[in-house]
Amino acid sequence: MAERTPVIAGNWKMNTDVESGLKLVKKIFEFSEGVSGVDKIVCPPSIAITSIAQTLAGTSIQVGAQNVSANDDGAFTGELSTSMLRGLVSHVIVGHSERRAMFGETSDQVAAKAIKAADAGISPILCIGEDLAVRKSGKAAEYVANQLEESLTGYSNWDSLIVAYEPVWAIGTGEAATSEQAQEMTVVCREVVRKLAPAAADSVRVLYGGSVNSGNVAELLAQPDIDGALVGGASLKVDEFSKLIAAAGSS
Ligand code: 13P
Repeated sequence: MAERTPVIAGNWKMNTDVESGLKLVKKIFEFSEGVSGVDKIVCPPSIAITSIAQTLAGTSIQVGAQNVSANDDGAFTGELSTSMLRGLVSHVIVGHSERRAMFGETSDQVAAKAIKAADAGISPILCIGEDLAVRKSGKAAEYVANQLEESLTGYSNWDSLIVAYEPVWAIGTGEAATSEQAQEMTVVCREVVRKLAPAAADSVRVLYGGSVNSGNVAELLAQPDIDGALVGGASLKVDEFSKLIAAAGSS
């Protein structure tokens, strides 16, 4: 079995401003710099990426973006390219369910973004997950497998990929998936990777996301196929996020 370094990634979504974001990362640094054996990532809003990346340079905390364009440059109002992000971020979230649902992102577009990011040396954190209707229909595994396979069309940079299983019904609801549900679905994700790239399946990191907090993280991380967490609300609270990092790493 491949050794997989756990990941705790904070998706700040559209929260904080530059000043409060800087304060937050300084505190996270203070509380978690002594913890090793875990990849710590913060994904602030794009306006704060530059100053946060400068502040965290040389620390163990990495910076990610929340989105990226699949295009190189040109008339794409409001978008950011990989060449703008390169050197500032190590990771980028692609295909978050909020972008799929509110901004109409398709799995084909997500695949193009993931490829573009990986080609630029930025690791994609590729999100997939079913909504409540799909969960209730009993077809969550099939749905997620298809969504992930489609979102990996043409993808080949397997070392750089992180997958995040985030059931829509668990995001921001306070109702996380049970550790059994999350384990079952992270296996589904890993098996999709096995089908596409057998050699990568045991080394690709698969995270769980959706109402992760300091009370449920240990049980989730104890599952054999859950390699970490993509965290929304709790990533904005210094003590909570630091506890998640501590739970995944060692000090
Ligand atoms: P919450 O942790 O707030 O449920 O959000 C999860 C998420 O969407 C992370 O990308």
